[in-house]
Amino acid sequence: MTALIIDTDPGVDDAFAIALACSSPDVDLLGVTTVFGNVGLAMTTRNALRILALYGREDVPVAAGADRPLVYPHPHRARYVHGEDGLSDRSNLLPERATGVAGTDAVSLLARLLEEAPEPVTIVPIGPLTNIALLLAAHPGARGKIERIVIMGGGIERGNVTAAAEFNIWSDPEAARRVLAEEDVPTVLVPLDLTHRCAVDAAWLDSLAGSGERGRLLVELTATYREFYSRTLGRDGTVVHDAVAMAEAISPGLLATETYAVDVECAHGPARGMTVADRRGAVARELSGVDDGREVAVAVDADLDAVREFLLSRLSS
Ligand code: RIB
Ligand code: CA
Repeated sequence: MTALIIDTDPGVDDAFAIALACSSPDVDLLGVTTVFGNVGLAMTTRNALRILALYGREDVPVAAGADRPLVYPHPHRARYVHGEDGLSDRSNLLPERATGVAGTDAVSLLARLLEEAPEPVTIVPIGPLTNIALLLAAHPGARGKIERIVIMGGGIERGNVTAAAEFNIWSDPEAARRVLAEEDVPTVLVPLDLTHRCAVDAAWLDSLAGSGERGRLLVELTATYREFYSRTLGRDGTVVHDAVAMAEAISPGLLATETYAVDVECAHGPARGMTVADRRGAVARELSGVDDGREVAVAVDADLDAVREFLLSRLSS
């Protein structure tokens, strides 16, 4: 059984990740915290509640977190990818949840759930890392109750929102740098280089849509998102970035990782938000004398069909 807390900015692929956690009997979903990102915080929070309601999860506490980055204003959202409401303007297809947000903020809920958990917990951040940076800064003792952090974010060879940066990291580079370069919690980074290789096609989506009402609704929610990715991929399909990271969180080792020091460019220039993975190797790094020792596991490869099958089989359940 994997105890999980999801920090999320739903978001269509976030919806698939939350659905995957809810559809996995080997997951104990302790809580969901929300953050600004694909759309504004009020909408990401509303979407998180509705996705949980679709899976009958009135029991999972939801708390809203940061509505902006740590340091610099960042008004950019991804409505052109996820729709105005974050779910292809089809969030109204989902039920409202009777149980609203918890009477606390995201960081307080994260800290409380970690403290109360009998065993260390996996945290799955699939949006900007603002809440996670705040948690680690305000509650350093919480580190001991974190099994690992499995992050969807970054790009090793390229970006998506800019030539250099992936959207989650670009949305709050200072927070990302704190988590990826300054902390020492076991961390897996699942970058877009690999999530793109796990793209799913029309046949996969059709199979999910035909698996039942929940699968049908999930595919309904992809309308805007699928149109965006079909244009960028050049074929009918989509990239469920966050669900790939969630699959690794649920099934450790599903993705092959290599260990690198990862830093984040925070200067205000063309590379702001870029994740810089030091792939020179430990010896070269040591000999260069520029090595602070912090490393993260970066997901670089997978049996792509096995990942797609893992997602489809669980989401179709
Ligand atoms: O770059 C992809 C990431 O940014 C995903 O988490 C997506 O939901 C958006 O938040
Ligand atoms: Ca996301």
